[in-house]
Amino acid sequence: MKILSAELVASAADPGQLPASGLPELALLGRSNVGKSSLLNRLVGRRKLAFTSATPGKTRLIHCYRVVRPGRELLLVDLPGYGWARVSKAERGRWKALVEGYLEKRAALGAALLLQDLRRDVSEDETLLLDWLSERDVPALVVLTKTDKLKAMRRAARIEALSKQLDPASVLPTSARTGEGIDPLWRAIDRLLFG
Ligand code: GTP
Ligand code: MG
Repeated sequence: MKILSAELVASAADPGQLPASGLPELALLGRSNVGKSSLLNRLVGRRKLAFTSATPGKTRLIHCYRVVRPGRELLLVDLPGYGWARVSKAERGRWKALVEGYLEKRAALGAALLLQDLRRDVSEDETLLLDWLSERDVPALVVLTKTDKLKAMRRAARIEALSKQLDPASVLPTSARTGEGIDPLWRAIDRLLFG
């Protein structure tokens, strides 16, 4: 996929502080460390645009990236992840307020990607989030991450297991490391945002 430019246009601790961009927005959601920022970087072909880290809880603000492709522009929105260890109740409340506030108030929100680590089972966090999005008519796609971490047989078995756990949502396997699934993901994003 040809990317003409990708740049950070806003970072905010409060969704109300984000400027209106007039562009269709795609939110990246999921557990901390699942690979949201890495996937964003791979989607735009820039290794270090969004901060990534082996330590969960790296992304603490809402970061909006304006992405320009031939004939199309969109905003990719990198959000803080949930569910990292040793997190205080207050911190968890802050995540909920930030992310739900964003999802609820952002008029331009066109669709969401919910990322799920291929090696983990789906938890209540994911099912609740998918239900929450569906109740608000936000189209969502589940993206399985880190496929490169498993050998072919195990990978196929995990894709099947997660497809069952997530049914009826469809899943798309990807790797930010190898680039697997990135072109199909762009096509899916285009269908979600532009019809
Ligand atoms: P938070 O910002 O804490 O919510 O995390 P995040 O979901 O943005 O995760 P991030 O992209 O920072 O990645 C977390 C860790 O997983 C980093 O060490 C990445 O290098 C690694 N990682 C991400 N995607 C992949 C992948 O496709 N393959 C492999 N092998 N590692 C990955
Ligand atoms: Mg991140």
